[in-house]
Amino acid sequence: MGAFLPALQAQDPEIYRAILQEAERQNVYLELIASENFVSRAVLEAMGTVLTNKYAEGYPSKRYYGGCEFVDVAETLARERARALFGAEHANVQPHSGAQANMAAFMAVLQPGDTILGMSLSHGGHLTHGSPVNFSGQLYRVVAYGVREEDGRIDYDAVRALARAERPKLIIAGASAYPRTIDFAAFADIAREVGAHFLVDMAHIAGLVAGGAHPSPVPHADIVTSTAHKTLRGPRSGFILSRESLARAIDKAVFPGVQGGPLMHIVAAKAVAFGEALRPEFRDYAHQVVANARALAETLVERGFRLVSGGTDNHLLLVDLRDKGELTGKAAEAVLERAHMTVNKNTVPGETRSPFVTSGIRIGTAALTTRGMREEEMRRIGHWMADVLDAADDESMVRRVRDEVIELTRSFPLYPEYPRP
Ligand SMILES: Cc1ncc(COP(=O)(O)O)c(C=O)c1O
Repeated sequence: MGAFLPALQAQDPEIYRAILQEAERQNVYLELIASENFVSRAVLEAMGTVLTNKYAEGYPSKRYYGGCEFVDVAETLARERARALFGAEHANVQPHSGAQANMAAFMAVLQPGDTILGMSLSHGGHLTHGSPVNFSGQLYRVVAYGVREEDGRIDYDAVRALARAERPKLIIAGASAYPRTIDFAAFADIAREVGAHFLVDMAHIAGLVAGGAHPSPVPHADIVTSTAHKTLRGPRSGFILSRESLARAIDKAVFPGVQGGPLMHIVAAKAVAFGEALRPEFRDYAHQVVANARALAETLVERGFRLVSGGTDNHLLLVDLRDKGELTGKAAEAVLERAHMTVNKNTVPGETRSPFVTSGIRIGTAALTTRGMREEEMRRIGHWMADVLDAADDESMVRRVRDEVIELTRSFPLYPEYPRP
């Protein structure tokens, strides 16, 4: 085999080594962070190309720079594939991230000071849906809905009552930590009644929507924002879908509203990822992600763990540790990490601990499903998690599980072309 990344290795051994170490970490840990995934070799290759050199402010065939004929091909393919994949009238594939997609989408339909109604961060919403530490909470007047404490589900009657009382200009559905199917038709009906725009942020579930494993928001929403890098398995970035009537406003809001030049190597990689998601195999993948989450959820429930809402309909589950004595989300995350299982601490509805400590963990199956794991592996992983969390102070247990985890990861090799550091 020839040298791997030879120029980088020769010129910058420190960065080269950090990259190899990260590849090895991804390989020997079980990645269970619900917002992460592993991109294909083709997506990785598109990202590492000369397209990064090109300035292309504007849109295909309407650029502020010369020499854009080939990046135009890439962006046009990305737009057409996004529209085909989700059945959308318009697609803007330039947002650098999910946060920037949301910022542009808000700018397209709101003025500073307008009222927005979104899901509260502590109940599973995202920072950009109105958190006071985010632009969304600083530029707009925020009203938040949550989930019912008894069953962890969105109470659509409560959302309607809030919307009637507060008359928001924009209603946002979508979440970072909600394990159940979202009823987009119900939200759209509420938005229509109060004369609000309706935006769905499908960042987490975009891959499930693409693969037919979650109902699509596109027929119901005026605007759909997303990231490409979670269940959709594309490069780290965002995109926006909308009705044709909002296309101009969205495009203006992305550029020149919140961004300068698009990252054309990432736009090209988005095109590649959308192309992959258009293939029939992606439907199998999306359904397997959900089946895997269900298998993991059932195992954890069998082992005495309480899940917010009792289970899952999508790619993620939220474990509520409040009946586990002193075990916090932070401590659970740390001990699972020592056993080579990566999750993140997460607040649970009705949280009493700080966001740095929390009483829950969030677990997702998108990444391990990409590695080829199925229900059988999920059940093994569920038992390992329970073994470790039930005996968090028992280092010999943690070591036993870690060794078994590493052995499992060897049967599902990831990026084998990366040499071990
Ligand atoms: C629902 C939702 N929207 C937006 C984002 C923001 O995406 P990014 O991290 O690319 O800005 C996230 C990411 O965590 C998310 O979960």
